Order: sequence, then structure tokens, then C-alpha cells
Amino acid sequence: MIERCENNGGIKEGQNYEIWHSPILSGVQFKDLSPENRLLYLASIGHMAPSTHNTQPWAFSLDPSSNSMNLYLDHCRVLPASDVRGRQANLSLGGVLANIKIAANFLGLSCECSIPFLKIEDKTQRYIHAINIKFNEAESSSNEELFRAVFSRRVNRSIYDTTRVIPEGIISRISEAASDGIAIHLIKKGDLRIPRIADVQARADNHVANNPHFARELGDWLQENGTESGLGMPGDTFNMTDEQSVHTKRALLGKEPMLADDIAAFSRGSQRGIETAGLVALLTTTENSPKQWFMGGEVLQKIGLFLTANNISYTVHAGLAEVPIVQQSLSLVFGTIKSPLIFLRAGYPRPDLPVPPHSPRLPLNEVLI
Ligand SMILES: Cc1cc2nc3c(=O)[nH]c(=O)nc-3n(C[C@H](O)[C@H](O)[C@H](O)COP(=O)(O)O)c2cc1C
Repeated sequence: MIERCENNGGIKEGQNYEIWHSPILSGVQFKDLSPENRLLYLASIGHMAPSTHNTQPWAFSLDPSSNSMNLYLDHCRVLPASDVRGRQANLSLGGVLANIKIAANFLGLSCECSIPFLKIEDKTQRYIHAINIKFNEAESSSNEELFRAVFSRRVNRSIYDTTRVIPEGIISRISEAASDGIAIHLIKKGDLRIPRIADVQARADNHVANNPHFARELGDWLQENGTESGLGMPGDTFNMTDEQSVHTKRALLGKEPMLADDIAAFSRGSQRGIETAGLVALLTTTENSPKQWFMGGEVLQKIGLFLTANNISYTVHAGLAEVPIVQQSLSLVFGTIKSPLIFLRAGYPRPDLPVPPHSPRLPLNEVLI
């Protein structure tokens, strides 16, 4: 359809990384595409969104005759242990919408979206309709840096550069991403609450590693570094060597002993990561509904893209908002009574540490229905 892009460096070999070679089109190049290829391009941009455990719990149906697409939640890829209510999956879907809107607006389309409405408890059907997006011709209205960030964004779970401070101007722009019912609570570097949150995170990680259901699930989705799978999280995106990925996966699956050191290393990693953050943020909602989880996912992804566009790394810690025993501590630290939705940390990448590679994606045709 469109020529493969060879200029987007740092992409692993293999079909499962092919999406990251998608060309970054200009508005003119995009308009030259057929209606069907335009929708395919926008769907592939949606498919670059982050998702819990890289489950990609979404599907698209395209309708070139009406210039619209439908986005669905794929029930088969909602995590049964760590995402019982589908909150993380809905957050992930919201990120897809953010990517598509940013791209469409940049490429000269406006988006008319139906209100997200997900009856996630209905498990009789695999695909649950989330939203309809109709595209109309419009002036280009989104900034190019954000659009470009869609292609380079990835989570960076390393520790961050503690010598650099995130400028106030950037911090206040992050707050602007808040939307109806979704609040963003920010805490900046130097605030003594950050080490307290790091402590709470270590407790959440311990809980996950010691809970056989959570651990097995994580083991299922943690992949060897050279995986050919389009799903899941390769160990090197957690800074693991080949050997560590294989061992940690087997240990989480109960096939090798999980040593106290493994658990400690696992929880120390994110604890230390939070301690080095230039900024941490908690997203909260006024109501705990699938619609707000979805909208929160859109806000989360807008923040992720804005940070990426400003060369700031970030990662997400779902456990902090998802594990009940730590949820309350987190609300207390942030001083909020609203429902915690998702937590993220951000900071400048350390120049001496490699930026982790992109994670794989399923071939686009596997998420088209
Ligand atoms: C809703 C949501 C929850 C996530 N939770 C976590 C988490 O708890 N810990 C973590 O390390 N990464 C988390 N992530 C990051 C995903 O694992 C990551 O997006 C996925 O593996 C794909 O990688 P990429 O974002 O680099 O493309 C989360 C992402 C989303 C969207």
C-alpha cells in the first residue's frame, strides 16, 4: 500500500516490528491515498498505542464508503487476573483514540466521535463496540511534533536523569490534557512524597510477584527478547538480558524457583525508577465507569505523546491504582478522594543508558474485523 519507512531507527527485525516502519505521511501524501488506504493508515496509527501488558485488546472495522471506522474492545485479550473489570483494557482503547485523533487532525481531518459506551460485563460476544469515528475534511489542526511522537513513543522503564529538571512550562501544559471528569494530580521532583510513592510501588510489585494468578499472567505476557510474537512485553523493554528474560518468565510461570532476589530486583526496579522521576502523575476519575476509563486512556496517551515530543521518557504503573491494598495509600499521598485510575512517572532519559526498543505489535490484519 504505502512504502515502508526506513528512517525510523532503533527498530528490531521481524514482522512483529513492521508497524514501526510505517511512513510518516504529510497531509498531501495522505490525501493522495484511496479512502480505504486512508482508513488503514489511521487504524495502523491507532494500533501503535500502548496497552496493558501489550495485549492490544482492540479491533477495528473500516467503512470507506462513509469515511468512518468502529473501534471495539476484544474480550479475548482482557487480562483475567489483573484486569477483572476491564479498566486497563479500556484505558488502552482510549489511547488508540488519542493516536487516531492526533493523526487525523494533523492530516487534515476532523473526527466526529460517538460517545464511548461499553457494556463490558456482556461476555457473550468477543468484540464489544466502543466508539464510532467519522472523519470529515478539515484544516490541519494538530501539531506535527505530536503526530511524529506517535511513531517514536514507547515506554521507558529505566531510571531517569536526576540532574535535569522538567521545565515549568512543560508541566503546566501536561495539566491541560485533563478532560471532563478526568483529573491529573502532579508531583514534581524534590517533593518528599515521591519516595513514599516509590515505597508504595514496591509493595504493589511484591503483591503481584507473590500472587500466583498475577504472577502467572505476567509470565504469560513477558516474552523472550527475540520473540516473534506480536503480543506481550519482551524482557529487554524491562532492561533484562536474554538470560534474565527467560529465567524471569519461567519463574513467574512457576517452572523455576522465584528467588527472593528476583522479586527484590523486580520491585527495586520500579521503586528506583519512581525515585529518579522528574515528575509523577496520578490520573483520577469522578466515577468508576468504563466510559471514564476510556476517556482517561485518551488523556494518558496525550500526555505520553506530549512528553515524547519533548524528549522526555515516561512509563506507567498500573499496579499502584489497581492493587487494592496500595490504592488507598496512593490516594492519601496525592490527597485525593477521587478514584485512582493510572499512575505514571516521567523524566529525561539518562544519556548513559540505552533507550529501550519498541514493543511488537500484531499484524494489522489481525485486528481488523
Ligand atoms: C493502561 C496501561 C497500563 C499499563 N501498566 C503498566 C504497568 O503496570 N507496568 C509497566 O511496566 N508497564 C505498564 N504499561 C505499559 C505497557 O506495558 C506498554 O505500553 C506495552 O508493553 C507496549 O509498549 P509500548 O508502550 O512501548 O509500545 C501500561 C500501559 C497501559 C496503556
